[in-house]
Amino acid sequence: MRAIQIDRFGAPGILGLTEAPRPKQGPGDILIRTIATSINPVDDKTREGSIGDGTPPLPMTLGWDLAGVVVDGGDSGLAAGERVIAMSHQLGSGRGTWADLVALPAQAVGFAPHAVTLAEAATLPLPGLTALQTLDWLAVSPGERLLIAGAAGAVGGLALQIARARGVRVDALVSRDAQAAFARSHGADRVVTDAAALEDRAYDAVFDTFGAFATEAVADGGRYASIATQAGPVPDLSGRGVRTTVHQVREDGAGLDELTELVDHGALRLRVHATFSVHDVQAAHERFHEGGLTGKIVLTF
Ligand SMILES: NC(=O)c1ccc[n+]([C@@H]2O[C@H](COP(=O)([O-])OP(=O)(O)OC[C@H]3O[C@@H](n4cnc5c(N)ncnc54)[C@H](OP(=O)(O)O)[C@@H]3O)[C@@H](O)[C@H]2O)c1
Repeated sequence: MRAIQIDRFGAPGILGLTEAPRPKQGPGDILIRTIATSINPVDDKTREGSIGDGTPPLPMTLGWDLAGVVVDGGDSGLAAGERVIAMSHQLGSGRGTWADLVALPAQAVGFAPHAVTLAEAATLPLPGLTALQTLDWLAVSPGERLLIAGAAGAVGGLALQIARARGVRVDALVSRDAQAAFARSHGADRVVTDAAALEDRAYDAVFDTFGAFATEAVADGGRYASIATQAGPVPDLSGRGVRTTVHQVREDGAGLDELTELVDHGALRLRVHATFSVHDVQAAHERFHEGGLTGKIVLTF
């Protein structure tokens, strides 16, 4: 089968299709034929070699996101041909999704939405689970005020929509005017492009997607979650009674089913900036690097 593997770290030029053995389907695994996947920042960092400790051994197959069809459901009860999505914790397990066939534990797999194509669905797993799990940690309730820093990014854009679906009042910090329009049209109340314009101690919770560390914005007794692992820990705010975390996304099939329901009910709109064939994986990464994206870069198999 075909896979995008690396045997050294470097620029996108090292990427290409190689021939790899079919994955072994262990007990409790589901074997999936990949239809589409997407590029996440972690894939880029892994390829460059900037993750450091905890990087799987070389050669490795890259990729976390997956949308495809079941080939063999094992003892999961899923029938062959079922449309599914999955997130594989590639750094933790070495099981990359950028391959024709992927075997994953049933707990990492969820039903794909019916309302969108599998190419669109491939944009959901990693950013969606990160948004959902971090919002669950923040435990924002209807009527509370949430600030999302990076609210037009892949994770932030989904977090904004999920929080709005939960009745939370959301303000947004974004990088530029084009992103402000996205945040407003997806239900953000107040949108700023300058962290200095944020109200002090106004938010019950802050969801920080890029290491803004807008700690003055969170109210005393509030919650502050970052997902920007490489920006380091959130400063200690325990003196103000603020709980802090740097959330690390987990495989979570039940969470994927929750996201799929939101998509099928029209509460979560997915964004594709461009779709590339897996044969054009280098061009796809170059586009990802250029930035200024209005959605995810999808790779189709
Ligand atoms: N811990 C975890 O489990 C986990 C899970 C998923 C992602 N992550 C990490 O979280 C980060 C975000 O991921 P993502 O997929 O959402 O990336 P993304 O799509 O690039 O989103 C990041 C957003 O932040 C915005 N931004 C960056 N710097 C800004 C600034 N100074 N002011 C205002 N906005 C700014 C970006 O705007 P521009 O596009 O204009 O730059 C972009 O909209 C990445 O570092 C990723 O590695 C961590």
